[in-house]
Formats: sequence, C-alpha cells, structure tokens
Amino acid sequence: CSQIPEAWRFDCYPERGVVVTEEMCHARNCCFIQHSQSKSPGRNGVPWCFYTPDYPSYELVSISDTEMGKITDPAEKRYEVPIDVPVVQKKASNPSYTVDFIKDPFGLIVKRAQTGTVLLNTSIAPLFYADQFLQMSTSLPSRFIYGLGEHRSNFLHDIQWNTLTMWARDVPPMELTNLYGVHPFYLSVESDGMAHGFFMLNSNAMDVALQPAPAITWRMIGGIFDFYVFLGPDPSSVIAQYLDVVGKPAMPIYWALGYHLCRWGYKSSEKTWDVVKEMRNYGIPQDVQWNDIDYMDHALDFTYDTMNFSTLPDLVKDLHRHYQHYVMILDPGISNSQPSGSYWPFDEGKKRGIFINDSNGEILTGKVWPGLTAFPDFSNPDTHEWWYQNLKSFHEKVPFDGVWIDMNEPSNFFDGSINGCPDNELENPPYTPGILGGTLKAKTVCASARQKISTHYNIHSLYGLMEAKATESALRKITDKRPFVISRSTFPSQGRYSGHWLGDNRSQWKDLATSIPGMLTFNILGIPLIGADICGFGGSTTEELCVRWTQLGAFYPFSRNHNSIDEQDQEPTAFSPAARTAMKEAILLRYSLFPYLYTLFHHAHISGHTVATPLLFQFPNDEKTYGIDKQFLLGKSLLVTPVLEAGRDYVVGYFPKGLWYDFQTGDSLISSGEEINLQAPTDKINLHLREGSVIPTQRPNTTLWVSSGQPLHLIVSLSEDGVAKGDLYWDDGEILDTYEKNQYAYIYFTVEQNTMTSEVLHNHEEATYITVETVSFYGVKNGPENVTVNSQEATFTYRNNQVLTVTDLGLNLSHNFTISWM
Ligand code: NOJ
Repeated sequence: CSQIPEAWRFDCYPERGVVVTEEMCHARNCCFIQHSQSKSPGRNGVPWCFYTPDYPSYELVSISDTEMGKITDPAEKRYEVPIDVPVVQKKASNPSYTVDFIKDPFGLIVKRAQTGTVLLNTSIAPLFYADQFLQMSTSLPSRFIYGLGEHRSNFLHDIQWNTLTMWARDVPPMELTNLYGVHPFYLSVESDGMAHGFFMLNSNAMDVALQPAPAITWRMIGGIFDFYVFLGPDPSSVIAQYLDVVGKPAMPIYWALGYHLCRWGYKSSEKTWDVVKEMRNYGIPQDVQWNDIDYMDHALDFTYDTMNFSTLPDLVKDLHRHYQHYVMILDPGISNSQPSGSYWPFDEGKKRGIFINDSNGEILTGKVWPGLTAFPDFSNPDTHEWWYQNLKSFHEKVPFDGVWIDMNEPSNFFDGSINGCPDNELENPPYTPGILGGTLKAKTVCASARQKISTHYNIHSLYGLMEAKATESALRKITDKRPFVISRSTFPSQGRYSGHWLGDNRSQWKDLATSIPGMLTFNILGIPLIGADICGFGGSTTEELCVRWTQLGAFYPFSRNHNSIDEQDQEPTAFSPAARTAMKEAILLRYSLFPYLYTLFHHAHISGHTVATPLLFQFPNDEKTYGIDKQFLLGKSLLVTPVLEAGRDYVVGYFPKGLWYDFQTGDSLISSGEEINLQAPTDKINLHLREGSVIPTQRPNTTLWVSSGQPLHLIVSLSEDGVAKGDLYWDDGEILDTYEKNQYAYIYFTVEQNTMTSEVLHNHEEATYITVETVSFYGVKNGPENVTVNSQEATFTYRNNQVLTVTDLGLNLSHNFTISWM
C-alpha cells in the first residue's frame, strides 16, 4: 500500500460525512494509510482508504470486433439520456486515435495516434458497473482541464483533490457546490498544446473527482457509460466536435445582443415604464426591458396583476413602438390551490395528466412563489402542447417577445414534496454524490417522483433543458421568429434552445471577477448566449462596482443588468452623471460592435465556435495563457482587459506575443508575451485588437434596430507584414433559419500589399441597405500620398500613430470593392 504514490491513491471510501477507520476500510479490502491533513468536506485531500493495485475488477474474456465497436449489455435495457445524438453509420476509416484493451483487469486505452499521448486509460483504478453505482477512473495527460459545469471556480480547474458534484440545484453560486446546470464535458490541453475533449453522456447524479496524478474519476448513480473522446487537435476543434454531437447553438434574434434591463421588485408597470423612459431621456442604449415575478397576479404563471401592472400591455406596445422588446419570467411551479375553475393552467393540466406524480401516482405537491404547486412534466409531449397553449393565450394579452425560464432545477421550497419522500432506494441510493443538502430531494422534487419517460432520479438534471425545448418551440409557433429564451438550469445541447445567465450572484468585486470564468466555461459548453447579472443580484452595489461591471458586462455575449428585491436601484440612470456617462459609453461601444458580435454568433451557430473565447484557444502554444480568466477575447481578435478591483485606475493584462492595437485609438504595442500595465480611469475599458483582423463596426444608436441600419466603419489591424482578414454575416436579424434558407449576405475582407478587398461571397438584399462609410487602417507605417477606392481617388487622413482613415466612402455593402494606398 505505501508504495502507491499519494497522487495515485484512488478513493475507496468516497462517502461524505464519515471519518473512515482502518476497520471500515479493510472491510472493503482497500489500503488504509491515515493522512495528516484531515478530509474536509467536498475537497477530500489524499484519501486514507484507497484501492489496492490488485483490487478485483472485470476481466476481458473474449473480444469480437464489430463494425461499430460498441460495448452493450444485451440482457438488460437501462436508462439512457434522451437527447438526440448523431448515430455513426460506419467505423472511422482513418482514425487519429488508437484504442487498446487490457485483459485483466479490463481496461481501455485511447491514444493520439500522431504523438502517442495517452488521452484515456481506464485501467488505473477498478471499474464498477452496478445498478446504482458506476465508477470509472482515467488518467489525464496534463493538469490543464476545463469545463465540467456548472460550478463556481477558476476557468482552469484545480486538480488538487477537487470533487465536482453534478445535480441541478437552486443555490446562489458558491465554490465546491453543485449549481443550476449539469455538463459532464471537459476539455484537456495536452503538454504539447494539442487538446482533446471528453463527454460522459449521463444525467444521473454524479461526482467528478480530480486528483493530481493527474486523473479523473466518474462516479455516477445510474444510467450507462456512454462517452465520447474528441481528438481536436486544437482547443476550438474540440469544442466544434463536441457540438457536432450535442448540437450547435441557435442563431439569436438580433436584439438578444442588445442591452437588457431587469430587476426583481419593480413594484408596478408604471415604475418599470419610468425606468425605460429615463433610459431614453439620457440616450442610453436599451433593447429589452424585463419583468420578474412582480408582474404576475399572486405569482401565478400566465397572469398579470391587473392592479399594479394594469398598464403592462400598453408598456409592451410602447416598447415595440420604440423598437424595443419585452421579456418576462415564468417559473415551472403551477399553483394547485386556486378555486376550481378559476385557473386554467392547473385545471387543464390536471385534466390532461401533465404534472409530475409522486411514487403513488398522485400529483406531487411542492411549494414555490405562488404557494403550493404542481410541476409540469416536460418529458411528456402533451405538456409541451399545454405549455404552448398557455403561452399563446397570455401572448394575446401581453405581446411579449421572449421568455425567461427560472427556478427550473426544478426548485422547490420543500425537500421533495409537501409530504416529504418515501424511504426507498431511489431516495436513499447506496451512494449519494456530494450534493448540497446531502440528499437528492434537497430543495427539489422527490427522486422517486414519476415522470412520463422515467423517474425523476434519472431525469432531474434535464428539467431545464426540457422546459427550454417546450418554450422554444412554443415561441417559434407564436412569434414565427427566432425564439429568445434564457434558462437557469441547463444540460448539454441547451444552446440549441436557450441562453443562460450565471444565477444569483452578489454585488461584490469577487462576483464581478468570477463572471469571466463562468462565461468562458459556458462558451465551451455550447451556450455562448451567456452573461452574469450586471452590477450584481444580491446585496447592494456601489457606483464604482456598477460602472466597472457595466464596462465588463458590455462584452458579455448576453448583457443584462438584474437586481434582487429590496436592493437599491442599479439601472445606469440611478447614478451620478459621471457614472451614468461611463456606463452609456460602454454600452454604446457594445452597440458599435454589433456587426462583429452578430457574425461571431453566426460562426457559433454554423461551426460551433466560441463567442467569448479563452486566450488559450488562440494561443495554445503559449502556456502562460492556460490559466487566464481575468481577460478574454471576443471572437479571435478583441482582447478585453477589465478592471476587477476597487480603487484602481490601471489594470495589468497579459498580452500574448505579437502586435496589439488599442481598439479605440489605434495606438500599437508590441508584446514579447508579457504582462502590461494599462491605464484604466473609471471611464475606460481596455479593449485591444490583435494584429491581422478586420472588424466591422457600426455607428451606434439607442436600439439595435436603429443602429443596425447605420453605415459601417471597418477597423483593420495590420500585422507586421501588412496583412489582415475578417468577415461579416448579415441578414434580416429575426427570420428563422436565414443561413439554412440562404437568406443572408456574407462578406469577406482581406488586406495585403496596401490593398483591401471586400468580396461578397454570398449576396442578399439585406446587404444592399448598408453602406461602408469609413475604413481605419491601424499600423500603416508610412503616410500614403494617395488612396484610391475602386481606382478613384478618395478622401483620407493619416495620423502619426500610424492610423490611416479613409472617409466618405458610401460603398454599398452588396458590391465588391477595393481600397488601396500608395
Ligand atoms: C431566482 C432567480 O435566479 C432571480 O434572478 C430572480 O430574480 C428570482 N428568482 C425571483 O424570480
């Protein structure tokens, strides 16, 4: 036993809350060596009780090669996760990996063919495949591991005995706790900068234990082993391959990328309206106004308070007149205690049998905002139809544009139900992962509750995904536009149906900083429409924090200011003129970047790219980028370096080797791959453009509807050798499936040898409405004598920071053009 290095000790006694003794350990035939640092909950430390090297496991008796190479149990059908994944038709002809089997104990070894790097080796610890306990350990090629959401942590996970538990849960985000969503996927960077991914398609409660070997242990309490390895070989390709399996994100409706304002505790529709009017008065961009549960009559879904929110339909119409939009919240809990015949959602739902039942087959009663509630079973197609009918009739009263689905873990103020839960093997499995509260039923419905396709035990963490699917398809039918849905609970494939926000953060500097790893993680999980509550949800913000948060939030793919009930106001209009102006400038900057951001979402939708991108994705050979989560890139080119601390007028950021330009001034800096101290007065967010890019921007306005009709200003950052490239995807902004139906324009920009070419690779009427008015070239070393546009002389300025700006162009975007300087 003592021969086994500490880092390689695999926990034989993972149960929480027990101090394992030698006797208990030996009863499991494991090694016992007490370790001086005692076990602390959730973060176990070196296990005292660990498997012996010869611990009995499976043996490979015979092997017969099948065309698909699948291992299944022919005797028994088990629960499998009900999400559509592609079914391969034939064996890969020229795989970039090798698979070897070890006979005794049975194990699988997957290697990268090109380098021989071991990506997976399951023989390092015993394998278990029992009904309610499946365990598999595999080695990792390095300590660089990312993903495994939803957790609050750094972007790069700590592998020092770090156990991440997965089981959807309503709780304000904190470290080492299972949170709202479940994503059993990781990205691993190998030591040579190559990367691979691993996806465990399993929805049961699980622990994912990381240890410094480096190794990972999957400990799941149901389902099957159904896993995928993605060979990359670069990080972006890994994500694209993962999204080939679970589905690429939806193309958002254009206004989803605008600035959103929300709070819990607008006491009336008039108060909500006043905020919108104030934003308009100050000329601060706002695309979407939201309402939290306050708008409802006694917190009942599909109703509105006709006293305090009597003018809600008028407010929504007024938003529409100003090209703004309205989103309201819905919670899954449906009140079961309204007078019979007075509340259609429950009466009709009961009649149709669409609610989750308890293990006796009676509707399970929980408690949420409206009091006692039943929970719709979204695994039942009839529930989708009922949900749609509810949404449709509410839409006839209040013509909302999108839906915010909250509390869908599902959250329950009771543990299990009003009557608790029965005492059975689903409620008390032989092993319970490290779930907050210690039981599966903690603040949700009973694990033994019955749903159409399975027990809640199996499909609990799919609740948010299934509700999002129902909501997305209902909105499609109602609005005939791209549905806008933001969901709190998520599961792989969620990006096809909704975006996400990072839940109930606090108005603290720490929460400002942790929003970046959260946002990056969701980008690699295929949910790029992600952001945190700007200025913080719980607790009261300060002016300085809210300014810094608005500056960072202006670059969240999903940018929403949201506040909790009874907290001090935190809309941009609630602050001093200086703060208000700084926030306005940040949001205007976001709006000017709309063409770029929209194009990034297009690439996410068709190719599975990230929108907010970790630096390591663009610089996989620079190990210094592997741990960076205080900065990020928008797409491949725009580096955001926010201030994340109080009282600072500077910020230190890492700049990978190369030439970078201040996005707004065009001033250049050359980095050898070093940290650089940047000035950051309160009215400034540092934004740098990587060499070699062309970024389409647009003159901003107070709504994206107006700003998206404005002339374009292209910003070109020349590389050392004078080249750059970029692109623009442009369509009507709201029609469904424009790319799939060929209703879009796609323009490609290249610059070389002092000539820029704009080439329309796919044309569409939408491009004819837009002109290119200005092009700025950053890094033009010598002032040109003349500039020509399509061979005609053009007007230009040249500044001594090497910025050439060509103005008054009036070029129609739908035509090719060239700009040259000499
Ligand atoms: C919990 C959500 O996370 C939060 O954003 C919302 O304001 C409250 N529920 C009230 O609906």
